[in-house]
Amino acid sequence: MKEYSILDQSYEVSFPQHGDERGWLVVVEGMKDIPFDIKRIFYIYGSDGDVIRGRHANRKSEFILVNVAGSCKVRLDDGRGKEKIIVLDQPHKGIYIPKMLWKDMYDFSNDSILLCLSSQVYDNEEYIRDYEEYKKEMRK
Ligand code: TYD
Repeated sequence: MKEYSILDQSYEVSFPQHGDERGWLVVVEGMKDIPFDIKRIFYIYGSDGDVIRGRHANRKSEFILVNVAGSCKVRLDDGRGKEKIIVLDQPHKGIYIPKMLWKDMYDFSNDSILLCLSSQVYDNEEYIRDYEEYKKEMRK
């Protein structure tokens, strides 16, 4: 039997694109297109290609990440030896990241704008930034 991994809770999402001769429009509604109400948005841009961002897990926040311009990669790590790498390179595609899943974002293109939607407002206390501590928690 396959061993349970928190990685299995994460999934890629494709949002409907409303297109006409004027271009495209993508809608993301909380509790409809994604499984939480959106309490916070932030976006990351201007990161060099050799930068690794993230490097943390969140005790409370769930996320949807969408590269609305350019591309980047997201590496998800369950702290128990399993990882998943996702390429985000389309403005209507995203990845759902549950709470307590470790994430790294890297390989940013020069034009990358990474949009992050979160279920929680910012609280530095809910971040686990020490990978050893994360591994210890996930082994429990
Ligand atoms: P950080 O968590 O290091 O970004 P990343 O998602 O790439 O790991 O955040 C960078 C800085 O921005 C840090 O000083 C904390 C601050 N910050 C906020 O004030 N509010 C937020 O919602 C976020 C995500 C970060």
